[in-house]
Amino acid sequence: MRKPIIAGNWKMHKTASEAAVLVKELAPLVAGSDKVTVVVCPPATALAKTAESLANTGIHLGAQNTHWEAQGAYTGETSLGMLKELCVEYVILGHSERRQYFAETDETVNLKTKATLAAGLVPIVCVGETLEEREAGTTEARVGSQVRAGLAGLTAEQVAGLVIAYEPIWAIGTGRTASSADANAVCAFIRATIAEVFGRAAAEAVRIQYGGSVKADNIAELMAQSDIDGALVGGASLDANGFSKIVNF
Ligand code: PGA
Repeated sequence: MRKPIIAGNWKMHKTASEAAVLVKELAPLVAGSDKVTVVVCPPATALAKTAESLANTGIHLGAQNTHWEAQGAYTGETSLGMLKELCVEYVILGHSERRQYFAETDETVNLKTKATLAAGLVPIVCVGETLEEREAGTTEARVGSQVRAGLAGLTAEQVAGLVIAYEPIWAIGTGRTASSADANAVCAFIRATIAEVFGRAAAEAVRIQYGGSVKADNIAELMAQSDIDGALVGGASLDANGFSKIVNF
């Protein structure tokens, strides 16, 4: 019942003109993949050009971050109104790189999630444990607290409509994917946490992606799991051919 959602997180790659080239290559390769919601998330400077290139392709546009305020003296930041005008529909929030390098906290993720929903866009809220936390057996404690804090104060209806990306930090960009069983166990735990806080209907509806070294050759097994509804793809989304194989798993 949950429509799978596969999103490419281009991170700090691709100028506007390079983004247009990638979309031009990608669009015909994923045309007709209406069983999957396909999203690309270029850097902010390439959003406008990418939006133009995506016209009539069926591919959706996402941003990699936002500020929660509508406007103001926040040098270097981008607001949801600015993103909306560029046809952005999804916003990645709380990616581990933003938590690690740019002081993103559960509190700012919560402010951004609320603002994104209020603006009518769909948050992709990222959670995930470090290698130390996994080895110490505290994965569920960490991920559970990120989910509870990141979504605090939302209604069940709001939670039903958003996307959560489970990305174990040790699997991002390392070539080391979580086994599909391990990834599914944490996604199922996230769904159980949502059920506890927001009720069964929200838990059944919320889409949970796995992210971390997803590639053409591991996507099918991940997607076959009961609680994995899609993928957030970094490195492998920068190649049209490779990303199209993931979308067409
Ligand atoms: P990766 O990145 O696919 O390159 O591991 C995933 C992500 O950070 O979203």
